Amino acid sequence: MIKLIHPGSEYFVQCIAKEPNIQDFLSRLKEHSKETYEHSYRVASLCADIGRDLDFSAYDRICAGYSGLLHDIGKLQILRDILEKSSLTKEELSSIRKHSRFGFLMIRKLGYHDVMNVIVAHHEYKIDPYPRNGDDRRNDFRNAEERRDKSDRIVKLAQVLAAADIYDGLSYQRSYKPPFPRQMIEEFLKQEYVGDKKYADLVLERHYSDE
Ligand SMILES: [Fe+2]
Ligand SMILES: [Fe+2]
Repeated sequence: MIKLIHPGSEYFVQCIAKEPNIQDFLSRLKEHSKETYEHSYRVASLCADIGRDLDFSAYDRICAGYSGLLHDIGKLQILRDILEKSSLTKEELSSIRKHSRFGFLMIRKLGYHDVMNVIVAHHEYKIDPYPRNGDDRRNDFRNAEERRDKSDRIVKLAQVLAAADIYDGLSYQRSYKPPFPRQMIEEFLKQEYVGDKKYADLVLERHYSDE
């Protein structure tokens, strides 16, 4: 496993995770899928690191941390067996792909406007993006999606999250895949991530400097 140390941001993330609503979601996620919970903490820490490196405002750094912690919270509504399978049917894949919209709807109830708009877009900077990939906008989530915020701030935070998410997914063991070697991580990240390259470069720089 790749050793990744984030001095400062781990503590920062632990502090912001103490907010009672966030804590409640995270303990439910831990119960439902421990590896998604652990992945979420690592992603949050990486997002907060990038926010610090790029001098984000304190508010944006907190949003980056919350978005990392909660980006996969919609997986609470996906069967655990499906989350852990290494090979998925078309139906199961489409079920998993609903998690970013489920997360949006769950966080909307808390009134975290920026966080919900970042979360819903965290798979939209991939070569095969969802939920905004054209045809599926006609489904029953349409009204929620139409209210989405598309400001530069949200796009920035969503791209940071997407780069950190892809990076972590490649780097660590999950029930459905092994951790990938360093060269493959770099190749896959560059291939998979289609947002602003500087965020992918920053993620990789941190990775190399922590080796
Ligand atoms: Fe996700
Ligand atoms: Fe994720």
